[in-house]
Amino acid sequence: MLPPDQNDLLTRVEGDAPMGQMLAQHFWIPALKSSAVVADGPPIKVRLLGRNYVVFRTTEGKVSCLDERCPHRGASLALARNENCALRCIFHGWKIDAAGEVTEVPTQTTDPQRFAKSVKVGRHHAREAGGLVWLWLGKGDKPPQFPHFEFTTLPVERVSIRMATVNFNWFQGVEANQDSSHVGILHRNFVGGLGNLQMMAQNSSPLYEVAGTPYGYQAVALRAMADGSTYMRITEFVMPWYSFIPPIDMADSERMAIIAVPVDDRTTNMIYIRYDNEKTVDPEHYQRILETEDFKILSGGERTNWGQDREAMRNDNFSGFHNLVLEDIAVQLSMGPIADRSDEQLCSGDKAIIQARRLMLRTVQASGEGTAPPTEELGPAGYTAIRSRADILPEGADWRDACGQVTL
Ligand code: FES
Ligand SMILES: [Fe+2]
Repeated sequence: MLPPDQNDLLTRVEGDAPMGQMLAQHFWIPALKSSAVVADGPPIKVRLLGRNYVVFRTTEGKVSCLDERCPHRGASLALARNENCALRCIFHGWKIDAAGEVTEVPTQTTDPQRFAKSVKVGRHHAREAGGLVWLWLGKGDKPPQFPHFEFTTLPVERVSIRMATVNFNWFQGVEANQDSSHVGILHRNFVGGLGNLQMMAQNSSPLYEVAGTPYGYQAVALRAMADGSTYMRITEFVMPWYSFIPPIDMADSERMAIIAVPVDDRTTNMIYIRYDNEKTVDPEHYQRILETEDFKILSGGERTNWGQDREAMRNDNFSGFHNLVLEDIAVQLSMGPIADRSDEQLCSGDKAIIQARRLMLRTVQASGEGTAPPTEELGPAGYTAIRSRADILPEGADWRDACGQVTL
């Protein structure tokens, strides 16, 4: 349970909300797929933390990010022409290059070059890794440590990304990804057919442990199996919005990361990343459970209970949804755009989300007092070493010996 002021501190990101300020200053933000930005193609409008930007790719292939509003009179640069390594606003033809310098001001008659130099442009650091464009929207010249996660170091064919914009607050997305206790219940119809996940259906009241790490925590779900062994799943939470989900099949090298990026207070980009260190990822695999490109199926909204299929529920469908990710999205939407946490009644299965809240509240409070988030201490190798894991522990084994925790 969280009182309203704490809930606001945790969830709000727009304007001068402390959480939005901290996220902008201390974290690189995964903003859009690299493939969405084409050399000399249209500038892509991106909204993050309640502000609008455009991302474009130059003739030479470099990605750049500017404030959406033209520095002249505020026309949208999403309408701009992408000309020879620069954007030209279609209104009065001002031209701004990838470094954020104004290079042409056709409507200034006296000394246009000197005038161009005097124009201030909102330009932001952009880089690419793991099939995504990442932005740093903070102030100053010193971006934070880049999160060199394992998937950011892999060739493109070993990473598959799906992205969708949903109408609920980002922290609901974070919590959903950390909430292991719902998997064997909400997703009952799917886990039975998914490799080792059937063991989650076998025992839906696991023992939960949460172990702090320098970058977040490990949420450990331990399920006692009939033969005396324990099925262990360790989800990694990495501040501020990354969840690394254990593999569906222990024998498979494919893994998953889910990121919940705040677009504004009531909108979130959910990014689902499948990656594999050893082999090519087939983007169509798991289509049935990960059809997330747009969630059109939910467009009936609250009026239709997001398209819940009662007929299917009378047969063998537990939730009434026909796709695992849609099950998640529907329950998050049903909690409202910014979930009221003041009258929840949490139980022992909620340990991980309680920890996520505590950690992010502590971090935003410390940031307000001038202390940077601990992730800034985590070097590139520390990020690369973060990995979710699933394993069967023999009777009597301790999960702590198998957790593979990263230290600073
Ligand atoms: S508003 Fe962009 S050039 Fe005038
Ligand atoms: Fe789920």
